[in-house]
Amino acid sequence: MNIREALTYDDVLLVPKMSHIRSRADVSTTTKLSKNITLNIPIVSSNMDTVTESAMAIAMARMGGIGIIHRFCSMEAQAREVLKVKRHQSMIVRKPLTITPNSSIKELRAKVKEYGYSGFLVCEEGDTKLLGIITKRDYILENGEEKFVGDLMTSAQDLITAANEISIEEAKQLFAKHKIEKLPIVDENFSIVGLITKKDLVENFDDKLAVKDRHGRLVVGAAVGVTGDYMERVDALVEAEVDIIDLDIAHGHSIIEIEALKQIKEKYPNLEIMAGNIATPDAAKDLIEVGADCLKVGIGPGSICTTRITTGFGVPQLSAIMDIYPVCFEYGIPMIADGGIKVPGDLVKALAGGADCVMLGGQLSGTEETPGSVINYNGRQYKISRGMASLTAAISRPGAKEDLSKITPEGIEAKVPYRGSVKDVISKYIGGLRSGMSYGNAKTIRELRDCEFVKITNSGIRESNSHDNEVL
Ligand code: XMP
Repeated sequence: MNIREALTYDDVLLVPKMSHIRSRADVSTTTKLSKNITLNIPIVSSNMDTVTESAMAIAMARMGGIGIIHRFCSMEAQAREVLKVKRHQSMIVRKPLTITPNSSIKELRAKVKEYGYSGFLVCEEGDTKLLGIITKRDYILENGEEKFVGDLMTSAQDLITAANEISIEEAKQLFAKHKIEKLPIVDENFSIVGLITKKDLVENFDDKLAVKDRHGRLVVGAAVGVTGDYMERVDALVEAEVDIIDLDIAHGHSIIEIEALKQIKEKYPNLEIMAGNIATPDAAKDLIEVGADCLKVGIGPGSICTTRITTGFGVPQLSAIMDIYPVCFEYGIPMIADGGIKVPGDLVKALAGGADCVMLGGQLSGTEETPGSVINYNGRQYKISRGMASLTAAISRPGAKEDLSKITPEGIEAKVPYRGSVKDVISKYIGGLRSGMSYGNAKTIRELRDCEFVKITNSGIRESNSHDNEVL
């Protein structure tokens, strides 16, 4: 049997070209995520339960990328995470959360804790007529059980409100003049149409790269599986106005994924679907032909994956990308290279090989924005990262099998050093990408694909890393 060679990032380097790029600021990092979503940086945060919930997704979209909310929780919890992203930071929050006037202060505090907002508009159950607003200063000193929201709120007649057509400038003036934190938007019947918060207004001006939907809200994706209640989960996510669904299974080139994709597309023809994971051109073709709007490539390259060890299957990641690229090019479908990125140079190689974006898991784990708390171990700070097919992930997911001996893990758990804000990780990656684009004379990510790869030996790998020094 003729066995062909397959390569990954460490096996190759890109050959520098005569560059007409005078500054790293002169390159564009804009790219396609899917048929209809454009990102300002080619980075997607992984749908792992130790990587992406709303905090990570918000940070990613604000920096120009996107986060995919994981599915290892109830559909209600996942939809809530999507809503938190959609409600964040658009100038007008379209479906603001409300509370009824006869809610107790205890109920109010529970709602504050659940959603992480300090105040709510007040209206009756099932109604939209604005009755008032309750903010932190109204209830902060209230410990008793006997008071209700209606007793403490600022009533509608004393509120500053605005109409839907308000401009950013007019909103800024109202906030400054009346020293308010929240501005309810109402219609002619005083029904709630939306809410503007001072925080969102300020943040809107800072986020030049933020990726937003047509209503000015941050974009977000969410993962679903292909068995059980996945269709109801899609319904819940669509209701929360998710921008893209990640149809995510370990072996995406399968009849169950194809059937699920067809079913979702039948019900929601305009909903964008990321399909994967795959590693071959045949898989790419089959999924595109049933409606995939982008493809996720990577079988077993991830930092916490053991699929290749457990099953013997997989394709080294750079070859998988380069094999699939001609199919993506022919159909005009973007590709996300998922897993195995360890350094910024790997991102550049993935894009030069034909990917449009990369998905990062391990490289984002341990940051402030990941779920979970910081743990102290031997005097150092860590966060936990785990493969979604690891033993601990399998036993902690809803409806887990009780018999652990029936689980064959394809991933591991790890402790990763706590590394502060994800912003620092992303800026290191984008700095490396901009520099790489200048070495490759590529003004755009697509132009990187004209660069030549050379295969290197172990000596080349040794030479590439710092050597013959005592590293400080
Ligand atoms: P990195 O290298 O960025 O890879 O950490 C993240 C990607 O790894 C995949 N993933 C898994 N693959 N077993 C696997 O074989 C697992 O338990 C597992 N968990 C995550 C996933 O595609 C992710 O984006």
